[in-house]
Amino acid sequence: MNTVETNIALAGLTSFGIAAKAQQLMRVDSVADVLQVLKAAEADAVPLTVLGGGSNVLCTHDVRGMVMKIEIMGRRIVAEDDATVTVEFGAGESWHDVVAWTVENGWGGLENLALIPGTVGAAPMQNIGAYGTEQASCAVSVTYVDRRTHTMHTLDADACAFGYRESVFKHALRDVAIITSVRYRLQRHPTVNTTYADVRNELQVRGVAAPTIRDVFDAVVAIRTRKLPDPAVIGNAGSFFKNPVVDAETYTRLRSANADMPAYPQADGTYKLAAAWLIDQCGWKGHRDGDAGVHVNQALVLVNYGGATGRQILELSKRIVASVHDAFGVTLEREVNVW
Ligand code: EPU
Repeated sequence: MNTVETNIALAGLTSFGIAAKAQQLMRVDSVADVLQVLKAAEADAVPLTVLGGGSNVLCTHDVRGMVMKIEIMGRRIVAEDDATVTVEFGAGESWHDVVAWTVENGWGGLENLALIPGTVGAAPMQNIGAYGTEQASCAVSVTYVDRRTHTMHTLDADACAFGYRESVFKHALRDVAIITSVRYRLQRHPTVNTTYADVRNELQVRGVAAPTIRDVFDAVVAIRTRKLPDPAVIGNAGSFFKNPVVDAETYTRLRSANADMPAYPQADGTYKLAAAWLIDQCGWKGHRDGDAGVHVNQALVLVNYGGATGRQILELSKRIVASVHDAFGVTLEREVNVW
């Protein structure tokens, strides 16, 4: 068990790189540690905030009380057969390292999710997804500590209610579950997923006719490196908003006025619109207010050029929401958690 660190700068622990401090911080690398910190925070009656990789957080003020930083590691095969291998990963494992490791082993399923910043424990929370896949497609179960009862629970994937950037961990179990490990079932004889046009194009440019999971992994790494800012260079938390899902009537209205508007029909008759396109149309791409800005290559990504405060980024995001609403009548929802 590590010691309590006090008055800790969060800039280096969150991908937005915003200057904010945590009153107290404790790093936990086991379930026993989690339970001990929970007890300590309760005994001292201080608020407790859970931090993973910090890649989906915007700090708008210093954090009072205790921050518990999840550093539970581990990669353990828990089941295997001729077709699949099921691996349990500690919540503190780096997501990208885990994906790279599965690809090195020749196990398919997560390769389209290469280079997503953050930790394994955060992945089921918002059901991370990119380039035609979501972590839900391989998830078997999620194990967590219940903050109220200090007991361990395991939910199978169905009970996690995964949806587009959604799960039970953002609703009924919000501020209740501290995820400690996640199990994924991977394919030993994988078929690749090249449904996303960007991936197909990248493979074509690379002259790859029969892609392996390694090829898809490399293609996704190349696309993301080109399009998305590296948080180590420019602070950001990936997509700041979710892509809005609208009913067929709204889609038809918008489409008739904007023939080139990207939209993706969903199984239930709704349409997913590209928030980046809506924001871009409103002229925000590359916009900069001091050190708070909209990325030059991807209008969905808000960036901190160095000295922005969380409030400045939040303020900019509100102006974007208002302008998209004025122009299209669509309300953008935040993907990033605001502290
Ligand atoms: N577009 C614009 N302007 C821009 C950027 C994009 O018009 O500045 C258009 C593109 O031409 C395309 C459409 O918007 O037609 C969608 O763009 P893109 O393929 O880049 O994906 P996205 O919808 O903006 C989503 C995820 C990303 C994920 C990519 C790839 C959400 C909120 N975001 O972005 O996830 O990497 O698809 O699958 O669903 C994240 O969640 O942090 C994230 C980066």
